[in-house]
Amino acid sequence: MKFDYKKLVAVAAKARLGSVSPYSKFKVGAALLTKAGEIIGGANVESASYGLTCCAERIALFKALTDGKKHFTAIAIVARCDGGPMPCGACRQLLAEYAPDARVFVADSDDLKSAKAFTVRKLLPSAFVLKN
Ligand code: THU
Repeated sequence: MKFDYKKLVAVAAKARLGSVSPYSKFKVGAALLTKAGEIIGGANVESASYGLTCCAERIALFKALTDGKKHFTAIAIVARCDGGPMPCGACRQLLAEYAPDARVFVADSDDLKSAKAFTVRKLLPSAFVLKN
């Protein structure tokens, strides 16, 4: 690993504290690393209309994209679950579209040191994308 993924995981753990999850109480934090070295954090936000809930990964990605960031090298995702939270299918799709070359680190908030690494391509092979 060429960069300090531990720092990215630490930022995701901090971003997790901003989770708005009154229904599931499952707090998730994410931190996206841009090619330029910036880190953008996000956390999950839930709605009383449950289906409107947005995952931490997408919040971080949407924040970054709407702030003009386009190139991402990694994302870290942290929650209190054994082995760390694997991104859902919807987030994998968005990552495949907007961060296809990113490394994905997942970590249990109680054990940040044992983060596991994946690639977006490994998590969503043969992704649907439209090239224009
Ligand atoms: N959640 C995330 O934020 N990221 C994931 O990768 C999986 C699930 C959130 C959505 C919801 O607020 C809560 O976790 C429980 O599903």
